[in-house]
Amino acid sequence: MRVLVTGGAGYVGSHVVRALLKAGHTPLVLDDLSTGHISLVERNEGVPLLVGDVGDADFLDQVFGGHALDAVVHCAGKAVIAESVRNPELYFDTNTVKGFKLLEAMRRHAVHRLVFSSTCAVYGVPDELPITEDTPCQPVNPYGASKLAFEQMSHAYARAYGFKVLALRYFNVAGASSEGDLGELDFSGTRLIPNLLRAARTEGAFNLYGNNYPTRDGSAERDLIHVEDLAAAHAAAVTRLDIIDPLAFGCALNLGTGRGSTVREVLAAVQEITGGKIMVREVPRRVGDPPALVADGSLAERVLGVSCTRNLDDMIRSAAEFSERELARENSPLRKRELEARRPERKDDKKARFGEVVVAAGFLSPDTIEEALKIQAERDGIGESHQLLGLILLEMGAISSAQLIEALRRMNEPAQA
Ligand SMILES: NC(=O)c1ccc[n+]([C@@H]2O[C@H](COP(=O)([O-])OP(=O)(O)OC[C@H]3O[C@@H](n4cnc5c(N)ncnc54)[C@H](O)[C@@H]3O)[C@@H](O)[C@H]2O)c1
Repeated sequence: MRVLVTGGAGYVGSHVVRALLKAGHTPLVLDDLSTGHISLVERNEGVPLLVGDVGDADFLDQVFGGHALDAVVHCAGKAVIAESVRNPELYFDTNTVKGFKLLEAMRRHAVHRLVFSSTCAVYGVPDELPITEDTPCQPVNPYGASKLAFEQMSHAYARAYGFKVLALRYFNVAGASSEGDLGELDFSGTRLIPNLLRAARTEGAFNLYGNNYPTRDGSAERDLIHVEDLAAAHAAAVTRLDIIDPLAFGCALNLGTGRGSTVREVLAAVQEITGGKIMVREVPRRVGDPPALVADGSLAERVLGVSCTRNLDDMIRSAAEFSERELARENSPLRKRELEARRPERKDDKKARFGEVVVAAGFLSPDTIEEALKIQAERDGIGESHQLLGLILLEMGAISSAQLIEALRRMNEPAQA
């Protein structure tokens, strides 16, 4: 089948493209490269990249009109929970509204097969484990809500217009390709294994959120699934869509292993495999982080005929191999990011300078800056920048948008540093 993979320049999408190629399908990538990377497309040799927005109806008409597509795997989206709490508009727009545009384009062009990257975040904080597809969906953040809304729209299209839809609800995806060339070029700072690998490499600190969860060692427990097992499930879903009836089981399948690992267990495994020593900083729980998320993935195994053969060790080893290769590449985004991270004083300089600019402009007192810096430090490593500090001040209601724009303008005037 000719399969359009939206978000095929991203972490999951690039592995899905590889799995589709291995299964004999012909994938094409649609991506706006907002968090994706051309290099991850190029490494899937011969696969065309169509650069554009999945919410642009005219662009979608060109893509569907020009490529005789048989199916869509919709991986494009925003996927950082903390960012969704700060900026729900971005999440509902990208994951829900733009998803609707995609569904409409599929309807206009009579392409009715859809596999969707959904998430265990649709379940929220479950009362019982393991989580089955019948566990109530009660998302606790805008990310989960925006994904659930898309699921519900696409299921309505299945009932009304005969779409064949499978929402694959991923648990925590980890690892890299066995060829060592595809993996996480992580920029959000929220991904467990890349964070641990970075801490092991650089002897930097690792934030352990919550040490008093009701789990075997007090740290949160997650079901980690290898990205290649996950990608293989997508290829099987595309292949099998015509011979299954997704409406018979609610159009959604869990993709997890059924085995939970606590954060401390993953940390110990990373230390053992890399030989690196990780400095652990125990910090309070993050709001909305469930104690444990473990999947019952048996329905997906039966429906798709696939099983998860790779374990935690495989995930860590493949991710470590990938990051080593990337760090050795001159132009790798991962290398650039790591070099940047090793110069904390430069980043702090910029934050301090931003604070000075705002105080000097008479907009705020130093105390308010201190308070905003504390909030920024608690925000899981996302956005170390002075821009985020500005946005936090805006959220606090301490500064107006006009003042923020003015302060950012002054930041760009070297003479006023
Ligand atoms: N990684 C995980 O652990 C995980 C878990 C559950 C669900 N998911 C879902 O899997 C999907 C892929 O996640 P990922 O981890 O590979 O993230 P990613 O950021 O690497 O990939 C997302 C891709 O979508 C593209 N994109 C974003 N907005 C777009 C737009 N408007 N138009 C076109 N392309 C756009 C990005 O450029 C990127 O290539 C997401 O939908 C996410 O919600 C991921």
